[in-house]
Amino acid sequence: MNQLNLNNYKQEIADLYTRRSERYDNSHWHWRIANHLVEYGQVSPGQQILDIATGTGHCAIAAAQLMGETGKVIGIDIAPGMIIQAQNKAKTLSLNNLEFLLADAENIDFPENHFDRIFCASAFIWMSDLVKSLLLWRKFLKPGGILGIQAFAETAFVGGVITQKILEKYGISYLMSQPTGTVEKCQYLLEKANFELIEIQVEQDGNYISLEEAQKMWAGTSHPAPGQYPHPLSKLSTEQLKQAKLEFENELKVLQTDQGIWNDITTFYIYGRKPINLLQNF
Ligand SMILES: C[S@@+](CC[C@H](N)C(=O)[O-])C[C@H]1O[C@@H](n2cnc3c(N)ncnc32)[C@H](O)[C@@H]1O
Repeated sequence: MNQLNLNNYKQEIADLYTRRSERYDNSHWHWRIANHLVEYGQVSPGQQILDIATGTGHCAIAAAQLMGETGKVIGIDIAPGMIIQAQNKAKTLSLNNLEFLLADAENIDFPENHFDRIFCASAFIWMSDLVKSLLLWRKFLKPGGILGIQAFAETAFVGGVITQKILEKYGISYLMSQPTGTVEKCQYLLEKANFELIEIQVEQDGNYISLEEAQKMWAGTSHPAPGQYPHPLSKLSTEQLKQAKLEFENELKVLQTDQGIWNDITTFYIYGRKPINLLQNF
């Protein structure tokens, strides 16, 4: 597989997901979300489809199965380990209309006006520049083609939300899902990139987790921070880091109930169309 020339931020992401790649499909959770995104994305036989940050290929495989033998799906990702898993799955399922490529979503080059659908599930906040990415991806959509993105609300994942609250006290902004965290923000991003007929479905989801599980969500510096490099926690001294982690754990204890700690996972499914009228496509 060709190696990519990635900057440090992206190399850390690629390494993280390659490390996770063999275990990634143990949970069905990402699979369910990706299937939902594709299911409502009006996929039909004969289409050209791009799955951005495909991971182990959830959206790409769902789309290829919906299309049958016709059309073509391309899945791209920066993590070689994830691409290998995706390729193995496609082979096992004998899906021949599917190709997986190692590529950086912010640095891709496909023919303009080529794809009928572009999907991106559980990955948009990893992009360094959200509007620039949308504008780039829009270029590769046919006029009338649809972009479907799945993102999480800023209330999602209790560990991240409490980390943000604690870090604010230290003057540190830890973004996580904040850039796409409300319906208004998602609408604004797609409007800014000239999409029309924007539709955002909100899925209220969540579960109770144990205190131990919640405490594991502490954002250590070994896990890259979506959209932020260098890692915002690297501004803290070792002593401050220790103190912040303690405050995080104490704050979680306060949230504990008999059922555990509520972990909100409110999810947005965002769709936008590239205008059919070519004059709007500048
Ligand atoms: C949480 S996984 C989501 C994978 C898949 N879309 C799914 O729904 O299961 C995030 C993926 O984004 C990929 N990723 C992050 N930044 C990327 C970039 N700039 N270009 C391509 N892939 C990227 C990671 O390597 C990882 O596989």
